[in-house]
Amino acid sequence: VKKLHKRHAREGRPVARAAVLGAGTMGGGIAFTSALRGVPVRMKDIAQAALEQGLAEADKQLARQVRNGRLKPEKAQAVRAAITVQRDEAGFDEVDCVIEAIVENLDVKRRVLAALEGSVGPGTVIASNTSSLRIDDIAQPLARPENFVGMHFFNPVPVMPLVEVIRGSRTSPQAVSTAVAYAAAMGKVPIVVQDGPGFLVNRILTPYVNAFVQLVADGADFEQVDRAMEAFGWPMGPAYLQDVVGMDVGAHVFDVIAAGYPARIRPVERNAIRTLVAAGRFGQKTGGGFYDYEADPAGKPR
Ligand code: NAI
Repeated sequence: VKKLHKRHAREGRPVARAAVLGAGTMGGGIAFTSALRGVPVRMKDIAQAALEQGLAEADKQLARQVRNGRLKPEKAQAVRAAITVQRDEAGFDEVDCVIEAIVENLDVKRRVLAALEGSVGPGTVIASNTSSLRIDDIAQPLARPENFVGMHFFNPVPVMPLVEVIRGSRTSPQAVSTAVAYAAAMGKVPIVVQDGPGFLVNRILTPYVNAFVQLVADGADFEQVDRAMEAFGWPMGPAYLQDVVGMDVGAHVFDVIAAGYPARIRPVERNAIRTLVAAGRFGQKTGGGFYDYEADPAGKPR
C-alpha cells in the first residue's frame, strides 16, 4: 500500500496548500485534519457563524489533544494558525487542491464549483466531498472536468480512516493521484472507486438502513436493534448511526441512491427516519433524533 501511495505522490500534484468550501460538520473536520498533518488550509463559508463554529470545533479538538499529551502546546498553536477563515475566495489561486463540502444539492454544487474555477489556478485539483451524487453529474458545467475528482470523507473526519476517491469519466489520472496522495498525507486510508450513486460504502449502507426502517415499521424497537448490531460486533447500530450522520443528510443520500438503483432498493413508506426529519429531529446536531442528547450533545445516549 505504501508503494502505491508513493506512486500516487509522484504522479499527483503535491498539495502544499489547500482550501475547503463549507465550514460545517465535514468541512470543519477536513480543514482541521489537513492542518494537523501540516497542510495549511483556507476555509471559506458564506455564513460567518459557520466559520466561527468550525474554528471553535478545531480549538476543542486541539485542547483535547494537548490535555491527553498527544500534542505539544506549540504544535497546537501552529495547527490553529494553519487554518484561516474567509467569506471570499482570496488566495485560492495559490492552492493546490480545494475540497468542496457544501450542501448536498446538485444544482448548488454545480453553480458553486463552476464559479470556483474562476478563482483557482488552471492546475488546481477540485474535489467534492459529496456522499451520493455522481461526479460526472456535478462535473457537467465545469470548464476543466479533468481536474475534478470525488474525495468522500466519513464523519467524524478526524476519527474515520476511510476516504473514497471517486474517478469520474473525465477525471485525469493526475487528479486521482493528487487526491489519493493528499488523503494519505492526512493519515487516511484512500481507496479509488468508480463513479455511481453512493460509490462503495453508501451502496452497502443504504439497503442496510432500509432494512432497519422496515424492521421498525414491522414493530421492532430501535434500541433493541442497535443493541443487537453492537453485540454482533459493529461499533454502533443503525439508529445511533443516523443520529451521528444527521437525519436530514442521511434521508437525502437515501433518496439519491434509491433513485439510482430502483430495481434493488424498495423504499419503506412513512418510515421512522422520515417522521423524525418532519419533526426537525435531525440527530446529535439538533439535540435529538432517535435518542435525546440534551445532557451531552456529542455523547452517546447510554
Ligand atoms: P453542513 O450543513 O454541516 O455544512 C455545510 C456548510 O456549507 C454550511 O456551513 C453552509 O453555510 C456552507 N455553504 C453553503 N453554501 C456555500 C457556499 N456557496 N460556499 C461556501 N460555503 C457554503 O453539511 P455537512 O454535513 O458538512 O455536509 C457537507 C457535504 O458533505 C455534503 O455534500 C454531504 O453530503 C457530505 N457528507 C456529509 C457527511 C455527514 O455525515 N454529515 C458524511 C460524508 C459526506
